[in-house]
Amino acid sequence: MLATADPAFRDDVLKGLAQQPPAIPARWLYDERGSELFDAITRLPSYYPTRTETALLETVMSAIADRAGDGRAVIEFGAGSLTKTPILLKAIRPALYVPIDISGDYLRSSAAQLAEQMPTLAIHPVEANFGNVIELPAEAADHPRLGFFPGSTIGNFIPQSATDLLRHFRATLGAGSLLLIGMDRVKPVERLIEAYDDPEKVTAEFNLNLLHRINRELGSDIRVDAFCHEARWNDMMSRVEMHLVAIREIEFGIADRSFRFAEGQSIHTENSHKYGPRGGRMLLLAGGWTPLAEWTDPARDFALVLAEAQPERFAP
Ligand code: TRP
Repeated sequence: MLATADPAFRDDVLKGLAQQPPAIPARWLYDERGSELFDAITRLPSYYPTRTETALLETVMSAIADRAGDGRAVIEFGAGSLTKTPILLKAIRPALYVPIDISGDYLRSSAAQLAEQMPTLAIHPVEANFGNVIELPAEAADHPRLGFFPGSTIGNFIPQSATDLLRHFRATLGAGSLLLIGMDRVKPVERLIEAYDDPEKVTAEFNLNLLHRINRELGSDIRVDAFCHEARWNDMMSRVEMHLVAIREIEFGIADRSFRFAEGQSIHTENSHKYGPRGGRMLLLAGGWTPLAEWTDPARDFALVLAEAQPERFAP
């Protein structure tokens, strides 16, 4: 049976596959099955970012709390993870917590779980696309604000969009606000590739699930076994790219269109940009955020940066 198709999904797939080189926006990787697989990825031994960032948050939280102080409104861009968010919230005792997520169901269920863990916390979820400038709940207006954007999600945006996003965060939070952001670091290529092409093949399944989703929701008949998952390091762009590569010539139809892939041709499905210390701070500056402090794990695999939306001025 055909699952109900989201017209936006259909349009993005048809438009993306007609493009050269073919690419489908990464957000479509996260259907129910995709979200489960992504959750499994975050626990893989070769996927270091989640583990490293969580441990780093634990280690540096008292320093962050010293700088942020109690009584802030904490605004999280994306529904919070139940392993990372409570580390911050327990340390800085905020006046309120505002998670922002485009998926209302996901937002409500994660807010409910957090409420169980922290029964006295005031939670005001906002259902919205965090890429837009958002009007915060009235309760947030009376408190200094701290934005939270962990997970190196900033790396999933091309730098041009990442600066737009940071500027929108600034407009949402206002001058004087703080932002705590997680950024994954450049490291030897072998380790990067292993993190995005694990020996357990969970990431491969996650990426290939996009083709299954197209078959399920758009009623097509793509031979999924004609494609394989590939993680590529693009050094010029400083990013890991995820592709679905045709391992033989393949033709398939979606709606009334037909597509042909030659052997070796690929569909680009995701980017994960990696930043060195200066590159990461420059990205923040370009987006209107002045870095105040930066912390990394001993291996320097991952960074947390605390930045401030200072009033605009020429110097210093
Ligand atoms: N924010 C995650 C990252 O860039 C997303 C991610 C992890 C991902 N593994 C993936 C996206 C595999 C697509 C495919 O690290």
